[in-house]
Amino acid sequence: MTTETSNVSPLAPEWLAVPEDLNVLQAPMWAAGVDRNADGEVAIDGVAVTQLKEQFGTPLFVMSETDFRLRARSFKDAFDAAFADICGGVDVYYAGKSFLCTAVAQWVTEEGLRLDTCSGGELAVAARAGVPGGNLSLHGNNKSDAEINRALDMLVGRIVVDSLDELERVARIASSRGETAKVMLRLTPGVHAHTHEFIATAHEDQKFGLSMAGDSTAQQGLSAAEEAVAAAASYPGIELLGLHCHIGSQIFEPDGFELAAQKLLGFQAAMQAKYSIVLPELDLGGGYGIAYTPVDTPRPPAEIADAMAAVVRSTCAELGIEPPRISIEPGRAIVGSTTFTLYEVGTRKTVRVDVESAAGDQENVTYPRRYVSVDGGMSDNARPVLYDADYSAILASRASVADPQLSRVVGKHCESGDIVVRDVYLPADVAAGDLLAVPGTGAYCWALSSNYNYLARPGVVAVRDGAARLIVRGETEEDLLNRDMGVANV
Ligand code: LLP
Repeated sequence: MTTETSNVSPLAPEWLAVPEDLNVLQAPMWAAGVDRNADGEVAIDGVAVTQLKEQFGTPLFVMSETDFRLRARSFKDAFDAAFADICGGVDVYYAGKSFLCTAVAQWVTEEGLRLDTCSGGELAVAARAGVPGGNLSLHGNNKSDAEINRALDMLVGRIVVDSLDELERVARIASSRGETAKVMLRLTPGVHAHTHEFIATAHEDQKFGLSMAGDSTAQQGLSAAEEAVAAAASYPGIELLGLHCHIGSQIFEPDGFELAAQKLLGFQAAMQAKYSIVLPELDLGGGYGIAYTPVDTPRPPAEIADAMAAVVRSTCAELGIEPPRISIEPGRAIVGSTTFTLYEVGTRKTVRVDVESAAGDQENVTYPRRYVSVDGGMSDNARPVLYDADYSAILASRASVADPQLSRVVGKHCESGDIVVRDVYLPADVAAGDLLAVPGTGAYCWALSSNYNYLARPGVVAVRDGAARLIVRGETEEDLLNRDMGVANV
């Protein structure tokens, strides 16, 4: 048996190249304003990571407020420009599920965006932040009566109704209050998109939305979507604003969005012809992809906006309908790349992995895989475990000229699947006490965080104009214990 130690590891996935310079931050993954300073440290807007570590500890979510505002504004501007002559612009609802706190809700509002919520808790954040009710939408496939009432109390701009059951419930609650609920209907257009591909299917085997295909169970001959449109028009408690769809997440190509827009507009035209119902709005959802690794190549918002606008324009012209006011719901594409997670390195270990010779007739060769443990893990980023998501990492507290070494960044949880970055080349001299930064953790990381193994959830720091401030403080040991009623009850 022989041992290989060359820089290129056969254990690495094919897409992972050995970086020419391990110290370079590869642009699409990082927020504007993040770079190495003269001391070789990664700094955000001039604030060095060692300073952040000293002030706030690790693990820590480090977010650029400037970059968040830029990305929010660039979505709004790009879509407004592309749709200006079609429907006077676009309403951009930031999807709060990706990451929400009161500061973010305020930035979103200040940048001219609206806010998409999907629970009573998210509505509570919006209320605390002072977001005007008319700027809010409420989503969810199983909204409670309390959530529907809360939305009506807050005069939300739209409730996105997900089922026939719910339509009836919203109508009943609104009527009992002597009010009218503004409603969008979430349809499943039979288009699923993921990253570079979309699949169009006739059947919709999922929990969300009203199917446009086949007969609804209640009324022979009508799809659930059509039945909902007809029912909405008959309920005095409902003002039907329009249709909605969301076709998936982390999508790079516009073709899935285009097909969904065509399908919904076609359906809208059919409803107009059959029932004389004119729907003034259409929401095409979120799902725009971001770069998690150097091989991800997201398109600028303007490119997607232009492609979608062209399809909406031509489809409406073909169908002979007035274009509805368009809205979209990006989450990840606004917040994802604004943030990196800062971790401190602890234990390292290297294992030797057998790789069969390609011809199968020679002896196996073993290659090293180095495990680098950090002070967080699946409790602050569940995405690698949940979705096999790939991330990248960089040595952040100093520059290094050491050779690249294939590494697996893992957390500190009692679970062997607790992986933060499955495969990354890091300098061979990475050691305990070094700081690693993992980019692209702004969306669905803090939001999905847990207290597994009684780890405290990290805080979130926002950096702007060279100043760092906590927008969500990290949990303390007291936070971890203060819902435990055992001792308190003795
Ligand atoms: N609108 C609706 C109705 C949604 O369900 C979602 C995401 C969005 C907008 C925003 O999608 P985005 O632009 O952020 O992709 N936890 C998963 C993603 C779940 C997405 C749920 N819905 C992940 O971490 O990949």
